[in-house]
Amino acid sequence: MPLIELDHIVKTYDLGLSKVPALRDIHFAIDRGEFVAIVGQSGSGKSTLMNIIGCLDVPTEGHYRLGGRDVGELSDDELADVRNLEIGFIFQSFQLLPRASALENVELPLIYRGVSKKERRERAVAALEIVQLSDRMTHRPAELSGGQRQRVAIARALVTQPSLLLADEPTGNLDSRTGEDIVQLFLELHQEGNTIILVTHEPKLAARCPRAVRIVDGLVIADGPGRAVAMANAEALGADAVAQLLAAQQAAEAPRHG
Ligand SMILES: Nc1ncnc2c1ncn2[C@@H]1O[C@H](COP(=O)(O)OP(=O)(O)O)[C@@H](O)[C@H]1O
Ligand SMILES: [Mg+2]
Repeated sequence: MPLIELDHIVKTYDLGLSKVPALRDIHFAIDRGEFVAIVGQSGSGKSTLMNIIGCLDVPTEGHYRLGGRDVGELSDDELADVRNLEIGFIFQSFQLLPRASALENVELPLIYRGVSKKERRERAVAALEIVQLSDRMTHRPAELSGGQRQRVAIARALVTQPSLLLADEPTGNLDSRTGEDIVQLFLELHQEGNTIILVTHEPKLAARCPRAVRIVDGLVIADGPGRAVAMANAEALGADAVAQLLAAQQAAEAPRHG
């Protein structure tokens, strides 16, 4: 059984005088352990889709099943449990507590779950080790770089061991190189068995993901290996876009210095 089944999902925002068709007929599935990029231009419906997958919003039509359960049939309490227990969210703007250290930020979701202080500390330390921030645990967000802040946010999402990691434009506030590093970290988390959905409007990041789904105007227009989906998109845009994508891929694969 797939972890995620999107069964002819339609989402229309009703603004009274007008209706905005954000998702028109989204139909695909994601298995446990997959790493999928959702790529598309601004306004194509990526965040709307992520909000539905993350149980923050419900579709207007169609069914969303998570682990075989129809999310539309869950009560508000059950939905809150799914969000808290099964999903780790990572946002563009990090959303860290400014006065708390990296360690305290990562511990926070465990406090809400009543995990003992000792276990909280151990699990937060372990999560910060995974994102390679063991040497920054007592730093506050303002004392960290953008890439390090996003790593703290990823550790905070990992610390609860969710069945699904959802990242909506996590590289949007980062420079290009740091964005590549964050994608590399997701690739490593995927190798360790995590299920990850990464929203990005950057085809060169989608190109590095095992699978990419391309959305245009609320419709899936391509679904396949990340590299193929990104290349098809670049080809549609012309020779310059193809050259840019190839150059970015070469740069990403080149040995790192420093
Ligand atoms: N809460 C909302 N109310 C009305 N329209 C919305 C709302 N959220 C998004 N939209 C519209 O739905 C479409 C898809 O938006 P969104 O999912 O945020 O796209 P993306 O994340 O790909 O940039 C856009 O036309 C956007 O203006
Ligand atoms: Mg968005």
